[in-house]
This record gives sequence, C-alpha cells and structure tokens, in this order.
Amino acid sequence: MSLPKVTILGAGHVGATTAHLLVLKGLADVVVIDVVEGLAAGKALDLLQAAAIEDLAVTVTGTTDLAAMTGSRLVVITAGLARTPGMSRDDLLAANANIVGPLADQITRLAPEAVVVVVTNPLDVMTHLVLQRTGFPRQRVMGMAGVLDAGRVRAFIAQRLSVAPASVQALILGSHGDLMVCLPDAITVQGASVSQRLSSQELDQLVARARDGGAEIVSLLKSSSAYYAPASGVVQMISAVLRGPRRVLPACVLLEGEYGLRDVCLGVPVELGPNGVERIIEQPLPPKAREALHQAAGQVRAQVKQLLSLRPSSS
Ligand code: 2OP
Repeated sequence: MSLPKVTILGAGHVGATTAHLLVLKGLADVVVIDVVEGLAAGKALDLLQAAAIEDLAVTVTGTTDLAAMTGSRLVVITAGLARTPGMSRDDLLAANANIVGPLADQITRLAPEAVVVVVTNPLDVMTHLVLQRTGFPRQRVMGMAGVLDAGRVRAFIAQRLSVAPASVQALILGSHGDLMVCLPDAITVQGASVSQRLSSQELDQLVARARDGGAEIVSLLKSSSAYYAPASGVVQMISAVLRGPRRVLPACVLLEGEYGLRDVCLGVPVELGPNGVERIIEQPLPPKAREALHQAAGQVRAQVKQLLSLRPSSS
C-alpha cells in the first residue's frame, strides 16, 4: 500500500521526533531535509532501521537537497533556531524568518499542493509568513501550538488529580506564548467542570505553568527546547489530515472575520481533515477571553509589522 509523502524540514529534535512518530504509526513515507551535511541522512538511516525492527514498511529518506520534497502531500516546518535559557520565542523572530521565508518559497515551487504545518517559533508570526510567501489558501497552512499548550494543561491537571489525561479536556486559543488564552469554563475532568475538582486559584497556577511550559523545559535542558510533546502535537494534526477521522483541534490559522479578527494568524478551534483546515469553528467566548484573544492578535500583528520592516522584500 502506498503511503502519503510527508517532508519534514529540519532534522533537529522536533523534526526527528516527528519523523520517528510518523514511522512508528505507519502514517507516511517520510523525507527529512536539513542544511547540516549528514544530519538528516544519518537520522533517516537510523529511522529506516528502526522501522525494520518494528516490521513497518515505510520509506525514510534524509538529505540536504530540498528537491527531495517534490510532490509532498504534507510539509512540516521545524527548521530554525530554538530558544536557549532566558530567551523568549519572540527573540527568534528575525533569525527564523530568514530561514522559514526561503523554505516557504521552495514549498510553493516543489510541493504546490501540500498542506503545511508550521512549528518554528515565534509560531503565529511564522505561520503568517508561510501563508504570505507560499500564497497557499488558508486551508493549507496551519501552525501547531494549541494542541501542545492544551496538552500541557491536561497533563498538569491529570497529574494533580491522579486521573487519566484522556479524561481531561481543555481548549487553548490565541498566541503560542504569554498571550495564550485558556478557557477555564471549557476545561472538564471526567465530563464535569474542572471547577468541581480544583479551586480557581489552583487552576490558575496549573494554567500558568502550562503557559510557561516551554520555558520550564528550556531552563532544564539548557541547550534545547521541548520536542517530545511538540512532535506529538504535530503528529496528532497530521493524522487527522492524512488518515482521519476528521478532528476538532486548536490550530493557528489565518482569521478572516472569525472572532471579529481579520488578517492575523491565531490559535482557534478548527476541524482538520483531508484538505487541511476544513472549517474554522467559531464559538461564543466570554468577554474576558475575547478581549485576551484581541490582545494576542494585537501582539502578533505588531510582530508581523516588525518583520516586514526588517525584511521589506518578504511581503
Ligand atoms: C514549546 O513551547 C517549542 O514552543 C515550543 O516548547
């Protein structure tokens, strides 16, 4: 049976772990591309051998040659610098735009029908950049962050209450960073409101830990940011696109009037399916959350503007 081709740009920790999960789930034939000579080739060879041990008939290729992504069904962009202790995601803006922008141009040329999942930070701005540079419809460009942020909230609540993470549901909107928007009323534990199990103060603490979850891991690892959970987030999204069933997940997408916002990429609930973003789900928000979402939009817009002023030719 032939599998869809997924290309991962960047063979660092997030890219390689995403490739590993795709292989283990038998979801795709995987191409990994990295500018560092030997890095993608070495990891791909290792993964190919892992697939043999797992009795999985997938192909895994690693190269420095961007032409290898030709005809991909889906492209994941993980290439770029990761944070080191003390850095915010926003500190990566100019450096990562210089990496991601030219990659987007190559995606347009080599994989013009692909669905693109952006992971590189600052996530919301990079998603906007990829959308602009590829000229793809918004259905085919999305950023992965809400699944990760919600996963962190769910993990901390499940750990605190000693329940299975699957029994905790949470929805995170907004920006991937300080301005993520958590909807406490949407958090449930075993089907009931979380307010029955945790005080609002305790919940606030767990949500704050999730919001700072990336920085907590950077401060422990020192030379790397998180990668297992980000890769799981990407693969959950890819699975809904390539294999189904369609699934409602938070993703960073271009808003065109939804939630009263336009021309800005932000995390909102979407239905993912074969065409990428099949539907943007607009749900009523309490005034405080709506205000927080608009505040996050303001910050992302300011960063996009900053980027355009740094890179006049990138618009
Ligand atoms: C994180 O939150 C890498 O942004 C990613 O860990």
